[in-house]
Amino acid sequence: MRKKVTVVGAGAVGSAAAHWIVSKELADVVLVDVVQGLPQGIALDLAQSGPVEGFDLKIVGANSYEETANSDVILITAGVPRRKDPTTGKFPSRDELVKINQDVVGPITAELAKYSPNSIMIVVTNPLDAMCHVVKEVSGFPRDRVIGQAGALDTARYKTFIAMELGVSVEDVHGIVLGGHGDEMVPLPRHTSVAGIPIRELMPEDKLQAIIERTRKGGGELVGLMGRSAYYAPASASVSMIEAILKDKKRVIASAVYLQGEYGYHDLFIGVPCVLGAKGLERVIIMDLNDEEKAMLEVSAKAVRAVVDVLGYKK
Ligand code: APR
Repeated sequence: MRKKVTVVGAGAVGSAAAHWIVSKELADVVLVDVVQGLPQGIALDLAQSGPVEGFDLKIVGANSYEETANSDVILITAGVPRRKDPTTGKFPSRDELVKINQDVVGPITAELAKYSPNSIMIVVTNPLDAMCHVVKEVSGFPRDRVIGQAGALDTARYKTFIAMELGVSVEDVHGIVLGGHGDEMVPLPRHTSVAGIPIRELMPEDKLQAIIERTRKGGGELVGLMGRSAYYAPASASVSMIEAILKDKKRVIASAVYLQGEYGYHDLFIGVPCVLGAKGLERVIIMDLNDEEKAMLEVSAKAVRAVVDVLGYKK
C-alpha cells in the first residue's frame, strides 16, 4: 500500500515540505490550505516536476478535508506568522499570537482527526510547544501520535554552524538540542562531537558559546535577513521525522513530546531525544544531564509553561 501524507498549510513551510516528500518519493501528498486555488496550484506545479525529476506520486490540493482521509502522517504548518497589523502598525503580543493560532490549529485538528483517526500528527506551527498541546487536546490522540518539530531544526542549525566554523563536513558533526523551541532552548556541548571527537577539543569555549547563542537566535537571524520566517530547513527537518516514521527507521531525533514524568516534567510538551518509528514516538531516551544542563532545561520548561498556560486548558 502506498503511504499518504497530508500537509496542512500550503505556505512556505508546507510547500517546501511537500517538495521534499515527493522528491524523496516517500508518499502521496494532499496539500490543504484555506486559500482557494493555492494548494491545488502548488500540487499541480509539483506534479509537473515529476516527469523531470522522475518521481511518480499522487499530489493533490484541497480546501477541505475529505481528500485527507486515511493519511498515515499529517504535517500541520497552517497558521498566522508574527507580522505587523497593517491598520495599527503593531505586532501581536506573544499571548495574542498563541490565541490566534490556537483558533487556526484547533478546528483544523478536529477535521484531521475525524478523517484520519489513526494518523500520526507532526506539528510545526508556532508557538510550537503550545500548538502541540492544542493538537493533543483537540485530537484526543495518545502522546505517541502527536509530535512537535523543533529539535530536528534546532539541532540542524547547531550542526551547520559547527561545520561552518570548523570547515568540516556537516555529515561528521553530531549533537543535540533539547528544550522548548524558543530562545531558551538547550544545546548540549557535552554531547557534541565531530566524528566522535569532543567539540571542546576542537574549538575554544568562546567560539562554542557564540555558536550556542547563534543557534538559540537562529530563527530570528533568518527573519532579520529575509523579513519572514525560514522555510527550507524547517521543512526538511519535518520531512526527516516523516521519513523516520514512514520507514520505521527508529531514528533518534530531538522532538517536542508530551512528557509524563521523564526529566521530571509532567503534562508538558518539551524537546527531548526521541526514537521515531512506525508508531510515532516509540521511546523517550533519558540522558544523564548534569546540574547545569538540568537548570537550563528548567528555564526552558518554565518559558514553555508560561505560553501553554495562555491556552486556558484545565491541568
Ligand atoms: N486552514 C488552512 N490553512 C490555513 C489556515 C486554516 N485555517 N489559516 C492559515 N492557513 C494557511 C495560510 O493560508 C498560509 O498559506 O497557512 C499557510 C501558512 O503559510 P505561511 O504564511 O507561508 O507561513 P510559513 O512560513 O509556512 O510558516 C507556517 O510554521 O515555522 C512555522 O512559525 C511558522 O507558524 C508558522 C508556520
